[in-house]
Amino acid sequence: MRLLLSSSLPLLLLALASLGLTQEAAIKYSRDDFPSDFVFGAGTSAYQYEGAVAEDGRSPSTWDTFTHAGNMPNKSTGDVASDGYHKYKEDVKLMSELGLEAYRFSISWSRLLPNGRGAVNPKGLEYYNGLINELIERGIQPHITLHHVELPQVLEDEYGGWLSPKIIEDMKEYADVCFREFGDRVSHWTTINEPNILTLLSYEFGLTPPRRCSFPFRPFNCSAGNSSVEPYIAMHNVLLAHAAVVRLYRTKYQILPTGINIYPPGLRNLLRYLKQEYGNPPIYIYENGYEGVKHILNDTDRIDYLDRYIRSTLDAIRDGSNVRGYFVWSFLDVFELATGYESSYGLYYVDFSNVERKRQPKLSARWYSNFLANKNGIRLKQRSGIQRVYNQ
Ligand SMILES: *[C@@H]1O[C@H](CO)[C@@H](O)[C@H](O)[C@H]1NC(C)=O
Ligand SMILES: *[C@@H]1O[C@H](CO)[C@@H](O)[C@H](O)[C@H]1NC(C)=O
Ligand SMILES: *[C@@H]1O[C@H](CO)[C@@H](O)[C@H](O)[C@H]1NC(C)=O
Ligand SMILES: *[C@@H]1O[C@H](CO)[C@@H](O)[C@H](O)[C@H]1NC(C)=O
Repeated sequence: MRLLLSSSLPLLLLALASLGLTQEAAIKYSRDDFPSDFVFGAGTSAYQYEGAVAEDGRSPSTWDTFTHAGNMPNKSTGDVASDGYHKYKEDVKLMSELGLEAYRFSISWSRLLPNGRGAVNPKGLEYYNGLINELIERGIQPHITLHHVELPQVLEDEYGGWLSPKIIEDMKEYADVCFREFGDRVSHWTTINEPNILTLLSYEFGLTPPRRCSFPFRPFNCSAGNSSVEPYIAMHNVLLAHAAVVRLYRTKYQILPTGINIYPPGLRNLLRYLKQEYGNPPIYIYENGYEGVKHILNDTDRIDYLDRYIRSTLDAIRDGSNVRGYFVWSFLDVFELATGYESSYGLYYVDFSNVERKRQPKLSARWYSNFLANKNGIRLKQRSGIQRVYNQ
């Protein structure tokens, strides 16, 4: 079921490609064209989604410190964010109604281990167990990221976070707690999200916490740092921490090229490159999303975007790439790390001006849902204004 190369469709694709026609113009596809063990999901991350930053024993992370210092546009913070800490059951229900097969989220290290190490916060444990159980009950595969941009502030204060090799032992201990507590139900783990972006933005440009940089790399007013040295020190420790965690838990894990912002055929090319140069490792596309305008529920641009990337992923599978999953960023609107609440990637709209943080499906949620339910009529054509077809 996995290899579709024997079907006649790829040949047709190749033929069309060589005629210079766009593949998307001609070929319909559905969920069933993908391997049955391939997963389609969507994601969020803890700081961007949970809120409840000072609740039930969570200690501040580097992102709390950063946002509370007023560093975001409009001084926004993740204090409430999408209020996922209180609304996760409702959200998992929405995921289930949408037909989501997998959900990617991250654990807030400082919620689980408020001191960075040592005592486990029972309330933190309860929250993640509740979320995982809710997902499992509804047949949605949990995919967990251990480190998604935020570090407990206590570790930053104690030894400078990623700049110190001490982080390696602490990361290992934190991972050990997660594997021990959740590993019976969770088999897909990512160690560290986008390490290249993390080290670049935090230590070269000073765009994100801990906001370190030095002249001339200072679009932001860093109070300390060394842009020519620290990104490499941090990356070194990131890689060692990753290796330590992997040694601890030798099973499926990926550090992936996520958040790919290139034209759709590029995704296929990238996957082909990974296949050729790295022995065709299993790959999960963990973040692929479209920044749209807030309040727009009729998000046809996002649908066009997702359609093209999902199609490109299918092309890659037919090329023989070992790609195992595709996750939309984001499941719902969250606190975005660059823009706060000014941009919107979600399949669901969240009204951040309302205390209830009410969720409303965008058209893209219905589109994705129809695709996952194998309803045809989802194919659309956008270039040159040919009519759009949405099955609702
Ligand atoms: C700040 O918020 C206002 C009102 O929501 C919005 O119009 C404006 O674009 C925001 N500014 C920035 C820099 O995000
Ligand atoms: C940058 O930091 C310096 C020293 O802390 C301060 O005097 C200056 O006003 C800051 N500039 C900006 C643009 O924030
Ligand atoms: C950064 O560190 C290097 C190596 O220690 C040093 O040569 C350079 O002067 C430092 N730069 C700044 C801005 O401190
Ligand atoms: C959604 O937008 C498209 C074009 O952007 C338009 O043709 C369509 O009528 C809109 N549908 C609704 C329900 O607003």
